[in-house]
Amino acid sequence: MNNKLGIGIVGLGRRGMALLESCILPREDVYVVAVCDLYEDRIIRTAEILKEAGKPEAKGVHDYREILQMEEVEAIIITSSWEEHVEIACASMYAGKYTAIEVGGAYSIDQCWQLVHTYEQTKTECMFLENCCFGREELLLLSMVRHNVFGELVHCQGGYLHDLREQIAYGKENRHYRLRNYIGRNCENYPTHELGPIANILDINRGNRMLTLVSVASKAAGMREYLQREKGVSYKEKDSYFAQGDIVTTVIQCARGETICLTLDTTLPRPYSRGLQVHGTKGMYMESNRSVFLDEKDNKFDLEWNKKWNNLEEYFAEYEHPVWRKYLDEGIRGGHDGMDWLTLAAFFKAAKERKPVPIDIYDAASWMSISCLSEESIAKGGMPVFIPDFTNGKWLVRTPWNVEG
Ligand SMILES: NC(=O)c1ccc[n+]([C@@H]2O[C@H](COP(=O)([O-])OP(=O)(O)OC[C@H]3O[C@@H](n4cnc5c(N)ncnc54)[C@H](O)[C@@H]3O)[C@@H](O)[C@H]2O)c1
Repeated sequence: MNNKLGIGIVGLGRRGMALLESCILPREDVYVVAVCDLYEDRIIRTAEILKEAGKPEAKGVHDYREILQMEEVEAIIITSSWEEHVEIACASMYAGKYTAIEVGGAYSIDQCWQLVHTYEQTKTECMFLENCCFGREELLLLSMVRHNVFGELVHCQGGYLHDLREQIAYGKENRHYRLRNYIGRNCENYPTHELGPIANILDINRGNRMLTLVSVASKAAGMREYLQREKGVSYKEKDSYFAQGDIVTTVIQCARGETICLTLDTTLPRPYSRGLQVHGTKGMYMESNRSVFLDEKDNKFDLEWNKKWNNLEEYFAEYEHPVWRKYLDEGIRGGHDGMDWLTLAAFFKAAKERKPVPIDIYDAASWMSISCLSEESIAKGGMPVFIPDFTNGKWLVRTPWNVEG
């Protein structure tokens, strides 16, 4: 097994299982040495899945520190609940394991600095598993931006626009962390699915940086009504208090002058979207109707734009990102339209070759910081809040983001 990468997985909930089954078990170059969860039944289920797949038995533990002591484990994938990410990631870096953290926001700026300082002290690579950075359309957009299709960029927006009422409402039954977060906090709690790709498009931490933000939250009405409908009158009073506003709007200003608008919309009825928009001096992209509007080409459709909805298809032939050209030829695998596979493949490649990871600790710290900074801004009635420069000036010299196939 020497030429294979031995990994440990911490967190065997929905995400841990999904990544295991769709992006890890099908690989021959990676094997699971040990797994960890707080719950015994999840460890047992994982052992069954490994056995059914004909894979070697993995050690199952309740304390992730046991995995960190295992020499055979070269890399750690953290798919635990949000509150645990930073502690486990720092311990993993100190143990010298290539580290991957699933997405989520930070609870304090101190946590973000802990990540940065631990990386700088240990020089152990830590990748933030923001799979949307590997999405086909997000990479197409990056490629179009790099080809100057939209001109000088001025504004980007995106959102986590996903009806999670059922997941939150049944948090106790499913032992899921979102419920307690929605009861206790009011913030942009999941900024990175949209911010990650936007940051790459705008060269954040690589020639540009986020300077300040303002955040406002609407009232919280969606969960109360949903719980009363689904669970009845017993939910009328104390159990239906949620601090988390239904819609959180965050506006970020960047050093080069662009603005970014993020929307969190997870507790009202709606269809799924990440609502990406990229707007420059020569045109714009709109995810909501999958269209590209270019100046001096599309202006005549200005008032009847529905005729051009879905015209994004016309742009793939010329601007498809090389990673996706290769991936389409090889065949798409894994969940979330194939982007999970690309994300983990990039992590495994870096770990095996002992090379830098493509989404690094500075990206993780700055993107995750939006959660606690938005919490502060909302609490102050939408006051501007400074976003720290987690690169300590290195954003001026770091080169623009890209990924290889
Ligand atoms: N990138 C994506 O598309 C995507 C999709 C879904 C979830 N996620 C992320 O994956 C993570 C997990 O989400 P989920 O829906 O699987 O949650 P989940 O609640 O289903 O699973 C989390 C698991 O972590 C375990 N855990 C918590 N603390 C632990 C500790 N100290 N040691 C070991 N195990 C611990 C819990 O017992 C639980 O089984 C979150 O960060 C979430 O944001 C990402």
